Amino acid sequence: MNFLVTGGAGFIGSAVCRHLCANPAYRVTNLDKLTYAGNLASLRQIENAHNYRFAQADICDEKSVLDIMHRDDIDIVMNLAAESHVDRSIDGPGAFIETNIVGTYRILNAALEYWRGLADDRKGRFRFHHVSTDEVFGDLPFEGGMFVEETPYAPSSPYSASKAASDHLVRAWHETYGLPVVLSNCSNNYGPYHFPEKLIPLVILNALDEKPLPVYGAGANVRDWLFVEDHARALELVATKGTPGESYNVGGNSERTNLGVVETICDLLDSRRPRAGGKSYRDLISFVTDRPGHDRRYAIDASKIGRDLGWAPNENFDSGLARTVDWYLDNKWWWGPIREQNYAGERLGEARKGAA
Ligand code: NAD
Ligand code: TYD
Repeated sequence: MNFLVTGGAGFIGSAVCRHLCANPAYRVTNLDKLTYAGNLASLRQIENAHNYRFAQADICDEKSVLDIMHRDDIDIVMNLAAESHVDRSIDGPGAFIETNIVGTYRILNAALEYWRGLADDRKGRFRFHHVSTDEVFGDLPFEGGMFVEETPYAPSSPYSASKAASDHLVRAWHETYGLPVVLSNCSNNYGPYHFPEKLIPLVILNALDEKPLPVYGAGANVRDWLFVEDHARALELVATKGTPGESYNVGGNSERTNLGVVETICDLLDSRRPRAGGKSYRDLISFVTDRPGHDRRYAIDASKIGRDLGWAPNENFDSGLARTVDWYLDNKWWWGPIREQNYAGERLGEARKGAA
């Protein structure tokens, strides 16, 4: 089985590549543009594996994508390439429209042309798996409710609006042209190799640098956290066993307030790497201006993927977060150059409503 993973140099895509390459029956091509978020160091573990190869390309470049599909005899496309950070989408939505919407349109066109040319048996097996987010559903009240696959789309940020648009295109290519697509919508991922612009790695690394730990607003917003390796297993199941035309919600069943997440990271670091002077890392917590359009709460009902595909997470939030903190403590070779050369942790996405 030959996989084309787009965005495989990113956080989730690299976990998917590492996971798939562990199966000798699979061959994996990682297609990635290598934006600021792409990092080939995340693939070090598999870079010389016999069943792995990398191709630097842009999903907006339909011809290159089609050539790679032909060259590597692709059976399954897993489309993870995207601009993924809400705060950057507030500062500069253009790249999100380009990659997430136009790029998905272009790769759908390439996949359709490729699929139409396949022999009947391979045509029946081909899948286009689009990896999306729970943020397309908008937000939930603090008091209750969960996202199910049928929850209407109501995105709030330029990022989630661009992902919602891409999901609609993927479904349209199935309904109109018959392309065998599957979709998945997951909650917030965390784990090793997470680019330190997102809450969990940012807080771990700022704490180690004795810098303020920025909590937006009062820290009361709630996210449902999913360990990235659990997600990678779910994505393999959706891509290989999912029913064409259907979508699957994937979540970690681990709802936490942002403040709760930050405090737990501080407590883990207090026991593993105590600060000089004996104070707690909690003293570094700093409440800052809220994100514009900040969704209150996300919560995923993941019962469908459990029932239909037999998936369940292996990690709970406490075990997954401890593994994550330990990984950052042990792997400065990976994050040190990013913090020094690429992104040092400055505030992003502070633009106010109505600002130019
Ligand atoms: P990421 O930002 O870490 O990685 C994105 C990767 O895509 C990078 O390697 C980048 O170089 C590549 N890329 C960007 N534009 C490209 C283009 N035009 N052509 C080819 N490659 C391009 O993102 P991530 O966190 O790994 O997310 C992967 C997917 O999962 C995205 O589609 C995202 O919307 C979705 N998702 C992520 C989360 C999360 O918590 N991280 C949650 C829900 C859904
Ligand atoms: P983030 O990791 O950016 O993921 P998403 O916006 O996709 O949920 O943010 C997770 C939550 O943490 C979100 O509610 C915003 C909040 N947050 C902070 O409080 N401080 C920060 O510095 C960052 C980056 C996020």
